[in-house]
Amino acid sequence: MRASSPRHQKRSPAPSVESHIKFFCSQVFEGSIEFLAFKPELYPANSLIICDPIIQLPSHPLPTLPLESKEATKSLSGLQTILQFLADYQADRETTVIAVGGGSLLDVVGLAASIYMRGISWWAVPTTLLAMVDASVGGKTGLNFNNVKNLIGSFYPANKTIIDSSFLATLPSSRYCEGLAEIIKMAWILDAEKWQTFLNQDIDQLIAYAIKLKLGIVSRDWFEKLEDTGRILLNAGHTFGHAIERLYPEISHGQAVALGLIAEHELAEMLTQSSHSIAQLKETLERVGLKTNYQDYLKNSEQLIAYILKDKKTYKHILQMVVATAPGQGYCLKFTAEDIRVFVSNLRS
Ligand SMILES: NC(=O)c1ccc[n+]([C@@H]2O[C@H](COP(=O)([O-])OP(=O)(O)OC[C@H]3O[C@@H](n4cnc5c(N)ncnc54)[C@H](O)[C@@H]3O)[C@@H](O)[C@H]2O)c1
Ligand SMILES: [Zn+2]
Repeated sequence: MRASSPRHQKRSPAPSVESHIKFFCSQVFEGSIEFLAFKPELYPANSLIICDPIIQLPSHPLPTLPLESKEATKSLSGLQTILQFLADYQADRETTVIAVGGGSLLDVVGLAASIYMRGISWWAVPTTLLAMVDASVGGKTGLNFNNVKNLIGSFYPANKTIIDSSFLATLPSSRYCEGLAEIIKMAWILDAEKWQTFLNQDIDQLIAYAIKLKLGIVSRDWFEKLEDTGRILLNAGHTFGHAIERLYPEISHGQAVALGLIAEHELAEMLTQSSHSIAQLKETLERVGLKTNYQDYLKNSEQLIAYILKDKKTYKHILQMVVATAPGQGYCLKFTAEDIRVFVSNLRS
């Protein structure tokens, strides 16, 4: 009879051998965010460029894949297009992939860079305000799958992010406001000190300000493990905001976040019976042109509840939102579907 290989022999663990081996694999992220004009002189020699065709880059000799920044690009087929481009040009670990465009393009290029050859170097060059202050900060990459946003993704920050605010010259004002909504959200939840004045800074200062606020949170919770004090704080306005976006697809993300912020703070006042300084928040959102009339969008409480139950912050049917009692005093508040029913019916009466 053929002796079975040692691999197949059944052994009981020797008492002296530990049956439980623990290991720690600490992944350290390193990257830089630089404020400068994005010029061909900066491109590393063996880089490959993936650029939104809406952006006119000065002519350069490097291989370039034109790819639109849009939700449809954040898909398996968008990912495949990028991976094919990398393979066609024989990208390797010496290659740098440079993504130039909005947040949706950066998200999927970052994902491709994280899995191609198990990870190659990439640069993010955001061209919308939202991408400069939010999507290019914090290392989340991803694509939409099975009708769920960002269902597939990785944590893989760009090795270098270049902020060139001259790209914003062509951005429609509604898109500019989207970025402002996210900046206002961060300032409101996190920064008591500069709340009154943060909007008075010039655009580069404002972008740097928002990036630092976001990095302050992300750097203590890279992998979104903290329950109440980490990245979740960046979700203010998004519990109701995402639901409003689903109910009214014509509303932009930033505008939905602005409506969500006020709705959530009104609900928090109802639940806690304490002030959440809503007038200050409302005035700031309206000053930059964002609407705050959330009542007009919360007509159907059951549909709203259905969408909020799908929110990634919802766990075992306990709903959560992030609000602040005053600037810089952000906290996580749990609530129930019944609370929404009462809240919406109070709006009608
Ligand atoms: N990874 C993260 O942490 C993170 C954070 C926030 C948002 N996001 C993602 O970012 C995406 C949204 O990004 P977005 O708001 O940049 O939108 P987007 O990437 O969809 O781009 C929006 C539109 O703006 C156009 N555009 C881009 N730059 C322009 C410019 N300079 N001038 C004129 N038009 C320009 C694009 O062609 C596109 O039509 C979403 O998919 C969202 O999930 C990711
Ligand atoms: Zn957002």
